[in-house]
Amino acid sequence: MTQDELKALVAKAAIDYVGAGTIIGVGTGSTVNHFIDALALVKDRIAGTVSSSIQSTERLRAHGIPVLDANDVEILSVYIDGADEIDHRGHMIKGGGAALTREKIVADMAAQFVCIVDVSKQVDVLGRFPLPVEVIPMARAQVARRLRQLGGEPTWREGVVTDNGNLILDVRGLKITDPLSMEQEINQWPGVVTCGIFARHKASVCLMGTAQGVQTLRY
Ligand code: A5P
Repeated sequence: MTQDELKALVAKAAIDYVGAGTIIGVGTGSTVNHFIDALALVKDRIAGTVSSSIQSTERLRAHGIPVLDANDVEILSVYIDGADEIDHRGHMIKGGGAALTREKIVADMAAQFVCIVDVSKQVDVLGRFPLPVEVIPMARAQVARRLRQLGGEPTWREGVVTDNGNLILDVRGLKITDPLSMEQEINQWPGVVTCGIFARHKASVCLMGTAQGVQTLRY
């Protein structure tokens, strides 16, 4: 199976986690695009969605799936999203699509996080994928200096402006052995909106697409 077929497979499997009459959180990316297309077939089952990006909102609305304002919703039954990397404890790196901040907000509203990935995203230690960090434009150079002090090599993702009007630094060379403490450390620096480590908001379940089918991992 191709990587895209594996993404479509896990996206379909995630439909089992969509509770009748509930509001669900929807992530961003090519795997989630498959999920949105699958959700369209059962859209009458749900009360609505909260979206993590303009890109996903447009796709949801094109299918006639209601998208609600996050401020009008108290709790989501589930948040379904992809990841750039996931370790064996459900910690993730996200933000390859620059949607990390809204993704973390929507994940925070949800009772559980169901991560949908193909097996190529599984790692022993996070950090092979460059860690995205969303920064307020004024803080770009200072946050880059801090990241270098931490042992990383930050690169400005030039030409990319997030849905929130901010910039992305991609950090190579970090070995993230303690995801929770590194997430907390980076997130407290002035000018950082959030970093792409999802440790406090790790996956509760991962649906992993493998050549043998969908593997369900619980953390
Ligand atoms: C978006 O900002 C990311 O967090 C995505 O969830 C992640 O990049 C996974 O994307 P794909 O499903 O396209 O691999």
